[in-house]
Amino acid sequence: MLKVENLNQYYSGSHILRGLSFEVEAGKVTSLLGRNGVGKTTLMKCLMGLIKSKSGQIIFGGQDVTHAPTHERVRSGIGYVPQGREIFPRLTVEENLLMGLASLPAGAKIPKLVFELFPVLKTMLRRRGGDLSGGQQQQLAIGRALAMEPRLLILDEPTEGIQPSIIKDIGHAIRVVAQRGSETERRVEERRQTQDAIRKVAETGKVAILLVEQYYDFARDLADHYLLMERGEFIMRGLGADMDRDGVREALAV
Ligand SMILES: Nc1ncnc2c1ncn2[C@@H]1O[C@H](COP(=O)(O)OP(=O)(O)OP(=O)(O)O)[C@@H](O)[C@H]1O
Ligand SMILES: [Mg+2]
Repeated sequence: MLKVENLNQYYSGSHILRGLSFEVEAGKVTSLLGRNGVGKTTLMKCLMGLIKSKSGQIIFGGQDVTHAPTHERVRSGIGYVPQGREIFPRLTVEENLLMGLASLPAGAKIPKLVFELFPVLKTMLRRRGGDLSGGQQQQLAIGRALAMEPRLLILDEPTEGIQPSIIKDIGHAIRVVAQRGSETERRVEERRQTQDAIRKVAETGKVAILLVEQYYDFARDLADHYLLMERGEFIMRGLGADMDRDGVREALAV
């Protein structure tokens, strides 16, 4: 779904991203780990076209989007939940979610899946975004990105400063969206029991997820694949299931 080749980026002369190459597959979660300041957010901004990459190639769904403007990347199906959430505090929850539809044809509706994953949003539709708790704002930010039914969902440290119960909900949502594990599928099917919703889940099965995290357990529990970044380079990569054995936790801690 996403293929990045030899990506380089500099901030005023210092080499921030150093020849990064990786892929993110449809229906899979790729966890990108790395300590503060190693370049994770810079990479996400390059993927979104918010900053220009110096060299390299970004291929999304077979299209070269290396030089495409941000709005085109969004329209072609990349959903982005930036670090620190960035919802619209003065707009209501509903209005925030509707903003997520901006890249879709007129008449598009907020998918039911958003409220199935985050029921709290349904009960707070008329509240202003800024009045929500930090965790609820994060759910709203993810809901807004899901509203456009992305084919690639990029999440930059969604658990940062969030309480454990909401972290659990967010983890569940990521799993459902990537449709990973039959147990989750069954649970989801049981919960909704309408053909419409099941179809929706099947559709979401095509979603590729790139999850930036520093919370090791959360990233590992969700990862099909992992990447570990250190000063703008990937120093380790592999299967999510091998993260403990590979010593990723220790590498992140040093
Ligand atoms: N606009 C900018 N101009 C110059 N340097 C920057 C800019 N933004 C970030 N940097 C520097 O680039 C490096 C990478 O920053 P980045 O935000 O990508 O790290 P990160 O891995 O996302 O960190 P964190 O985990 O704290 O979010 C850091 O050294 C940071 O100080
Ligand atoms: Mg960051």
